[in-house]
This record gives sequence, structure tokens and C-alpha cells, in this order.
Amino acid sequence: MTAAKVETVPVCIIGGGPSGLLLSQLLHLQGIDNILLEKYSRAHVLARIRAGVLEHGFARLMREAQCGERMDREGEIHRGFHIAHDGVLDHDDLYKYSGGNSVIVYGQTELTRDLYEARERMGGKVVHEAEDVALHDLTGKPYVTYRKGDETRRVDCDFVIGADGFHGVSRRSIPRDMLVEHERVYPFGWLGVLSRTPPVSPELIYVRHERGFALCSLRSQVLSRYYVQVPLTDRVEDWSDEAFWEELKRRLPREVAERLVTGPSIEKSIAPLRSFVAEPMRYGRLFLAGDAAHIVPPTGARGLNSAASDIYYLYHALLDHYKKGDDTGLDGYSERALARVWKAQRFSWWMTMMLHRFPDDLSYNVRLQQAELAYLFSSEAAKRVLAENYVGLPF
Ligand code: APR
Ligand code: PHB
Repeated sequence: MTAAKVETVPVCIIGGGPSGLLLSQLLHLQGIDNILLEKYSRAHVLARIRAGVLEHGFARLMREAQCGERMDREGEIHRGFHIAHDGVLDHDDLYKYSGGNSVIVYGQTELTRDLYEARERMGGKVVHEAEDVALHDLTGKPYVTYRKGDETRRVDCDFVIGADGFHGVSRRSIPRDMLVEHERVYPFGWLGVLSRTPPVSPELIYVRHERGFALCSLRSQVLSRYYVQVPLTDRVEDWSDEAFWEELKRRLPREVAERLVTGPSIEKSIAPLRSFVAEPMRYGRLFLAGDAAHIVPPTGARGLNSAASDIYYLYHALLDHYKKGDDTGLDGYSERALARVWKAQRFSWWMTMMLHRFPDDLSYNVRLQQAELAYLFSSEAAKRVLAENYVGLPF
């Protein structure tokens, strides 16, 4: 057997989703050499349809990474959103109630494409189709092995960053007794449709309806994204486009349903809803970031946004380590990251509980949802709380 090809790099990043790519790019710009290992091809990663709301803090990081140009050109700034419930269409003015902040509607797929292009332009080390990635000696002198085609390779490094999503190998490389996992699985999913049609509303509409939750979102003025809550037992093949549009219309306020433009679906899928946090987010010289450590249900649009603070804290911690020999940031990373992660969990859980229909729910709980929404839009303080969380808590 031939010896594995060995490369020595300060930082080895596992996972080429938004978290890993953004960190790789930020470190590179500061002269901190790193290699990124991604299990799939670039085309495969870019074929995934993901959510589309970016909080201002994530957008700021994209600009700092010199990747914000297209996002700022093509993304849409949203200063508010609607919640339809109990026959009314309420509005939260994000800009007013968050003290001048907003969110950017820009597809996560496009954002990932921008990051890949920047990495390529700068000659970043990105290995696609890195198979059998394995993490070794994480509490000593860490190294990562992987297979590329027929060749086994090895990366010797100071730090491993686990940014390989919920199903990745990094979190599973931590001994079970060193990790606590908190999980809540919701008894429903979201059936999502992407269609080349003008969006029904310039701002997002979240809908609480007795038939179940719905969401009207968009990617651009000619590309719409809609969702309806479905039981976990439903299969996407069971939903024709016609059945989807019919169900969506039934859940929308009448005046919105009447102006909905329907068309063939370009993509249709069912995503289960889950809340998950693994803690601590560090084991020896392995640091977890993004979906590898925590998942939120999509209701509060927090997914990518809770990854933003992880990347920000890790980036600065690594800068302090390499530039100043200061490890305070690395030592405090897990606690600091988790403090914000749990606030995003709380917000996503609250939005999810308030807006979905739960099977066999008590009438008491249904009335509580209605009271919650009535309170929310009758109180300036409550609208402020909603806006502050939706645009993203500071980091
Ligand atoms: N080896 C290498 N790469 C892996 C492995 C592995 N064993 N397992 C998974 N990966 C890759 C996946 O193919 C994926 O491209 O890691 C990447 C993880 O990316 P994401 O799942 O997108 O996670 P992250 O970058 O943290 O992005 C944050 O927020 O809105 C949510 O889920 C949404 O993608 C979004 C996430
Ligand atoms: C989306 O556009 O896909 C989207 C928007 C807001 C959410 C979830 C998903 O809360």
C-alpha cells in the first residue's frame, strides 16, 4: 500500500456549505491558510434549494468576506413582513421596530455560489468529492484523512472546523459521553414549491390557519417560493401542482388567494421540522459551526443566521490565536456561541408553536395561539420583540 499524501495546513474545514465556505474565505483574506473538504461535487451542493432570508449580520459578514456584491445588487431588502391569522393580515415593521434594521431576501443557493466563486478566484484550497473523511487525535495533534478517487490523503493541522451540516461526520467524531444533544422533532413537515411566477406579495406572508401553516416567500420578482404544512406521512409524489395551489389558496386570506399567480413547479420537496442543539460546540481542537451543531425549524428564518454568529466568533478567535497568541476566544467559543444559538432556538420554537396546527391539539392551546397573535399585534412592545429577533440579535 502506498503512503497517504500528506499536506500540512493550519486550519482544516470540513463541509462546503455556507458556514465552511464563509469561514474559509474570511481566514484566507487574513492570510490564514486553510483547506476545505466537501463530500459532494460543486454542482450537487448548488442544486440544493434552501431558504432565502439573510439577517443583516450575515450580510455584513458576506461583505467583509468580499462576497457581498451580487447579494447587494440582486437581493431584496425587506423592511417588514405579514402574519395572516383569524381573518386579518397583520404587519410587523421590522425597520421601525428594530431600530433601522432589515433582512435581505437572497437565495442561499446563490450565496453559496458566490462563496465558491470567490474561493476559486482567490485560489482557495477546496476539495470536492472528498470521501470517507475521518477526524483523528482531536485532543492531541489533530489530522484528517480522506479519499479522493483512489488516493488516500491526509491533512495535518492545528484546528479542525466541523461545518459539515447535521448529517456530517464531525459531530459524530466526538465521544458520546462528551456531548449532550437536545432535540425536538415536530409532528409535521413543510411541502415547498418553487415556481417561475411573480410573488403574490412584495413582503413575506406567514399564515396561521385551521387547516395548517402556510408561507408565501420569494426569490425575486419572477420567482416565488411557497410552503404548506403537511403531515409527516405525506409523500411529495402524492401532491400534484394543482393540489398544492388549491391547498395554499384555502389557507390564504381571500384577497391574497385571488391575486395568487400559479404555474408549474420547478422544485417540490417536503422538509421535516426539527430543533436540535449539541453542546459543547468544542472537543479538543475540533470546533463545530452551523448546522453541524444546531438545527432550527424554518419558521423564524434563523437557519443560516444562527450559523453567522458561530462563524463570526470562530473567525475572530482564530485571528486572535494566530495574530496575537491569545486563546481566550477559542476557549470561550462554545459558551459564547451557544448563548446566541439558544436565543435563536427559542425564537424559532415560539414562531413554530404559534403558527402551526398540532395534531389532536387541545382547544385550549388553539385559543392560546389566537391570544398570542392578538397580543402581538396590539402591543408596540411585542412587535419590537418580534422585529428584534427576526432581523437577528446582535453578535
Ligand atoms: N465530509 C465532508 N463534507 C460533508 C460531510 C462529510 N462527511 N457530510 C456533509 N458534508 C457537507 C455537505 O455536503 C454540505 O455541503 O457539509 C456541508 C454542510 O452544509 P450545510 O448543511 O448547508 O450546513 P451549514 O454550512 O452549516 O449551513 C447552514 O443553515 O438554513 C440552514 O440548513 C441550512 O444550509 C443551511 C444552514
Ligand atoms: C424561504 O424563502 O424559503 C423561507 C423564508 C422564510 C422562512 C423560511 C423559508 O421563515
